[in-house]
Amino acid sequence: MVDGKVAGEFKEIKNMKKRILTGDTPTGRLHLGHYVGTLENRVKLQGEYETFIILADTHALAGKTQDSADASQVKENTLQVAMDNLAVGLDPSKVTIFIESEVPEIYELAAIFSMYVSHNRALRNPTIKDEIKMKGMGDQFSLGFINYPIYQAADILCVKGELVPVGKDQEAHLEQTREIARMFNKISSNLFPEPKALIGRVGKLPGTDGNPKMGKSLGNCIYLSDSAEEVEKKVMNMYTDPKRIHLTDPGTVEGNPVFVYLDAFGVDTDHEQITKYKELYTKGQVGDIEVKKFLVKILNNFLDPIRKRRSEFEKQPELVEKILREGTEKARSEAQKTLLEVKKAMKLDYFG
Ligand code: TRP
Repeated sequence: MVDGKVAGEFKEIKNMKKRILTGDTPTGRLHLGHYVGTLENRVKLQGEYETFIILADTHALAGKTQDSADASQVKENTLQVAMDNLAVGLDPSKVTIFIESEVPEIYELAAIFSMYVSHNRALRNPTIKDEIKMKGMGDQFSLGFINYPIYQAADILCVKGELVPVGKDQEAHLEQTREIARMFNKISSNLFPEPKALIGRVGKLPGTDGNPKMGKSLGNCIYLSDSAEEVEKKVMNMYTDPKRIHLTDPGTVEGNPVFVYLDAFGVDTDHEQITKYKELYTKGQVGDIEVKKFLVKILNNFLDPIRKRRSEFEKQPELVEKILREGTEKARSEAQKTLLEVKKAMKLDYFG
């Protein structure tokens, strides 16, 4: 308790902000689901919290098979995901964006953590179970795949992240992270914070095919980097209410992806029109095409400033590289300090 009080006072004196640590697995570019799940909160809170964004490229390797150890695609995706984060409006002068595989202290922490987590506990993680089922992995998943929530704990705890903006599917990993933090706090009080998840405004955004989840591996995404034409094509082909054959058939709004997207991306700007369309749709007085065209307009208005920022950064690859290099250096120096503290607390420090 005394430690806690001193730490609290120290924070006040130095006027230190609380820390956010969150990030992405670069298995592909980021989409609208990522936006409402986590990116939106990152942008909103970047001034209030000291924010760290991890590009978790090692996680992206967890889905690989034994066919090839080539990670060039993961590297390319990592750079694209960095662009996605900058494009949505994260300000590199405020936010630290860094690359997981360039901070080897994360691996060291994860190796240590993994010694204290039972195999059963790792397998009991409901998100891991879901992923195995959803991606049809059977029993062909790697050791690293089961272990990736432990890496995620190391991602978060290496910079002592307190708040973690994530989508709902990540809650199970946060629970695992808190368990690890508590375990280490037993040997040295206040070594780690117990990080809290901050779940996005829309827990889960359905895919364009009506699947309850938008996911890269499901091929049902609208990407933040899609052109206006691509968005139009995807929306016009979108799944709606399958029971509705004629315009005059009463339609279902609830759970209909077109209306879920309208609510998610148009409430601030077009609330009245959305309410009106819902009414007309329910009564069978407006066609799918008209509502979809309206959604195309809303999504493209939302994506336009993101596209503009992206193209600015695309023109300056050396700036993006500098942002990542400096961000990684800063995160690494924090991780080095944390690792040393952990080893000292464990009484596993040999050379001072
Ligand atoms: N597993 C997260 C996802 O797939 C990405 C991630 C990796 C992450 N490391 C993290 C999220 C640390 C929060 C904190 O979305």
